[in-house]
Amino acid sequence: MNILILGGGGREHSLAWAVMQNPKCDKLIVAPGNAGIAQIADCATLDIEDGSAVVAFAEAEAIDFVIVGPEAPLAAGVSDDLRAAGFLVFGPSKDAAQLEASKAFTKEICDAAQAPTAGYGHFVDAQSAKAYVREQGAPIVVKADGLAAGKGVVVAMDLDEALHAIDDMFGGAFGGAGAEVVIEEFMEGEEASFFILCDGTNVLPIGTAQDHKRVGEGDTGPNTGGMGAYSPAPVLTDEIANLALEQIVKPCVAEMAKRGMPYQGVLYAGLMIKDGAPRLVEYNARFGDPECQALMMRLGGQALDLMLATARTELAETRVNWADDHAMTVVMAANGYPGAYEKGSVINGLDALVEDSFNMVFHAGTAERDGAIVATGGRVLNVTARGATLAQAHQRAYAMVDAINWPGGFFRRDIGWRAL
Ligand code: AMP
Ligand code: GLY
Repeated sequence: MNILILGGGGREHSLAWAVMQNPKCDKLIVAPGNAGIAQIADCATLDIEDGSAVVAFAEAEAIDFVIVGPEAPLAAGVSDDLRAAGFLVFGPSKDAAQLEASKAFTKEICDAAQAPTAGYGHFVDAQSAKAYVREQGAPIVVKADGLAAGKGVVVAMDLDEALHAIDDMFGGAFGGAGAEVVIEEFMEGEEASFFILCDGTNVLPIGTAQDHKRVGEGDTGPNTGGMGAYSPAPVLTDEIANLALEQIVKPCVAEMAKRGMPYQGVLYAGLMIKDGAPRLVEYNARFGDPECQALMMRLGGQALDLMLATARTELAETRVNWADDHAMTVVMAANGYPGAYEKGSVINGLDALVEDSFNMVFHAGTAERDGAIVATGGRVLNVTARGATLAQAHQRAYAMVDAINWPGGFFRRDIGWRAL
């Protein structure tokens, strides 16, 4: 079959890599892709948030299956346009993607489903939001309702910080995303991510992971999109994962179906775990980046069958073949990230690396210039390895990192410290 993947980051490189290993894939196009993806698939220039442009492209290329990587095309309704044109799609509808695109919507679904999550208030003006914060006290969490590229959440340790965050959000610091604000109880515990395929009715867990959001070693410094991840997450034991499935995921998926917006795609549940009990921090309507890179390394070619079963509503008859393995991905980022960073620095040493089903360098923000690979983004490479133990995956990933010669970049040496 002919397959189209939308997106151009490390997540999409790992999806492309897994899909290419499945003999069902005859042709793979990734739009827009990047320099790493171009080594294994065709890349195409396309406005992936423009539904009619994506439909026209998929028709012209005789595409049989479309996999939507990032949240922006989901929130723009690109899956709906593709489905209306008769395409098989992996990725939720615009309505269902509200589980990521609106924090207030997600809280409402959790309420209806009685899913454990933080207590909250939902506000459309600064004055009542501030009154609520004064009444609740700190620590407290202030969130812009809409999509804000991971920047719309302020975990305020004191009242002043919370009041400032409210002013910033209603003042337009996050554009339309901050026109409504959700204020949440601060939850303590350990965070982990749980990935579940949903075909509208049935659910199938496909792995757990933990990421490192802070830029600095020891989990210090500003927040990033993620500096590394590993799978599985030891804190999400089978017992806790099962609680999350029964108490949080299944009731929410049932509530979505009841509302006429069945969820079809991967549901990424961010969980807070304390004393053996999971609570929902947030949902995302896509794979995590860089968590996906670790998951794909473990699932390999069966990932395509799983995504097809999701799109065809056949999850009830589908199983995952688990290997008893571990994977880790280490992000290499451009100097300065997550602040202003330099673009165009040359990365050496990639050609000499041996890549196989245990060792892969997924590209996140790269381009090819005069035969050299150059950095074009903040997060640039996702060096990913698999092993029988997390320690082995860690050793393999850092052996690759150490063989890459890139003075313009940096990485954290301590990915996985909590689990190792
Ligand atoms: P979100 O975008 O909702 O995942 O929030 C980003 C990060 O803020 C999460 O990964 C948590 O580390 C933190 N966070 C969000 N909500 C809460 C909460 N209610 N209590 C504690 N930490 C939170
Ligand atoms: N790594 C976090 C995310 O993809 O949202």
